[in-house]
Amino acid sequence: MSRPYVVLSVATSVDGYIDDASDRRLVLSGAADLDRVDAERASVDAILVGATTIRRDDPRLLVRSPERVARRVAAGRAPQPVKVTISGGGDLDPGARFFTTGDTTRIVYVPSGVAVPDALRAVATVVSTGSPLDPARVLADLHGRGVERLMIEGGTTVHTLFLTAGLVDEIQLAVAPFFVGDPAAPRVVGPGVFPHDARRRMRLAGVTQLDDVVLLRYLLDGAVRGSAQRPSDPAGHREGRR
Ligand SMILES: NC(=O)c1ccc[n+]([C@@H]2O[C@H](COP(=O)([O-])OP(=O)(O)OC[C@H]3O[C@@H](n4cnc5c(N)ncnc54)[C@H](OP(=O)(O)O)[C@@H]3O)[C@@H](O)[C@H]2O)c1
Repeated sequence: MSRPYVVLSVATSVDGYIDDASDRRLVLSGAADLDRVDAERASVDAILVGATTIRRDDPRLLVRSPERVARRVAAGRAPQPVKVTISGGGDLDPGARFFTTGDTTRIVYVPSGVAVPDALRAVATVVSTGSPLDPARVLADLHGRGVERLMIEGGTTVHTLFLTAGLVDEIQLAVAPFFVGDPAAPRVVGPGVFPHDARRRMRLAGVTQLDDVVLLRYLLDGAVRGSAQRPSDPAGHREGRR
């Protein structure tokens, strides 16, 4: 199945947590890394997050910089990337910022046979993709809709789903200089069988210091083929720079 080039972008604490266990969103990156994420968003055709991230963080998932939006438009692209989520039951608030902000398309992938409320269908394209939901079919469907480059932005369950399926080409891991230390908090990934273990290491393609955050860029050679293998560096970070 043909699919987009998939970049997984995540910010983590030194001890591997992507949030704490409180109700408030934990700030992991700094201004420079957030700007780097904005540049990455501006380079992609679509951004995917899990339904829990929408419910918990209520993200906008928009390119913030007007200059970057203008450059997309000048290049004949949509002003904003398509927003994509996956959900087992379609229990999502149509008033969430995912649905209400930005001039763009929203797509909700659900397993086949799930009855999705009309209120959600009114604000998003709902697509059934197998039972259980098949992440490879999600990517193939997105590719069919013109998505050549996809950014996955959390959370734990979604990372684990796409990584264990071998459907990620690149990880951009921003490491914040502190610990969370709470086993109740979500980690970068959950348990699973990952194609890249100690016997098959990922390729370190770049190290960049962004204030007190370190961005590690890994290429997952041997991810399930279908994408054009096009690693790129939209944020302008040179490989190996510290
Ligand atoms: N630091 C970062 O960079 C970063 C970025 C994003 C998120 N986060 C954090 O990540 C945490 C959320 O992670 P999470 O693991 O709880 O949730 P998640 O990955 O955001 O979303 C999980 C949900 O996605 C849907 N889903 C996942 N796999 C599916 C499958 N195979 N079939 C159908 N639906 C599926 C389900 O939705 P339904 O429940 O609707 O069935 C599931 O409950 C939050 O604390 C958030 O702050 C951190």
